[in-house]
Amino acid sequence: MKFFIDTASLDQIKEAKDLGILDGVTTNPSLMAKEGISGEANILNHYKQICDIVDGDVSAEVISTDFEGIVEEGKRLAEIAPNIVVKVPMIKDGIKAIRWFTDHDIKTNCTLVFSPGQAILAAKAGATYLSPFIGRVDDINWDGVTLIAEIAEIYAIQGYETEILAASIRSSKHIVESAKAGADVITSPLGPILGLLKHPLTDIGLEKFLADYRKANG
Ligand code: E4P
Repeated sequence: MKFFIDTASLDQIKEAKDLGILDGVTTNPSLMAKEGISGEANILNHYKQICDIVDGDVSAEVISTDFEGIVEEGKRLAEIAPNIVVKVPMIKDGIKAIRWFTDHDIKTNCTLVFSPGQAILAAKAGATYLSPFIGRVDDINWDGVTLIAEIAEIYAIQGYETEILAASIRSSKHIVESAKAGADVITSPLGPILGLLKHPLTDIGLEKFLADYRKANG
């Protein structure tokens, strides 16, 4: 399973990369705004800076919601670097645009996915990645991880090549459960990724090993 970081923070992207486990980055307009990035030139420049740090795929989201606008914006984004993936919302014109990008060898990430039916449409259009938002599904008292499992089952039966990218991750447990449910990729903020390191028995065990070493070695 690939690990993407879900942030526009250059510091956090560098920290995850230094850990040696980073396969890519996802962003969205909210995450860009959180970093104070606004205006098309600044946004394009920020994506360039992210692509300079990371070798793997970097999802850059379009703002347009009509077919022509999505295609024009996506082409500009795809020109930034070869590892840019155009992130397109799950709407009618978005699906049309994903088909256009697929036919023109531009990678896509279909975002804001909340149902298996949407997942089938995105795969039919040839999306490179599909982003089911599991945390937001949990927020409305449904089960986000079950959604991943349902999509994984359908994709396996149908032989779809679109990669399932579990998004809207809120906890380390979400990462583990997504891996069990068949996600090809998770995208997570840094916190839940670092949370995977933690276990109290690891801390207690390490403390004892070091104490015993000090006792034996003075
Ligand atoms: C996915 O690519 C989105 O950027 C993100 O995972 C959404 O997460 P949120 O529900 O925490 O905003």
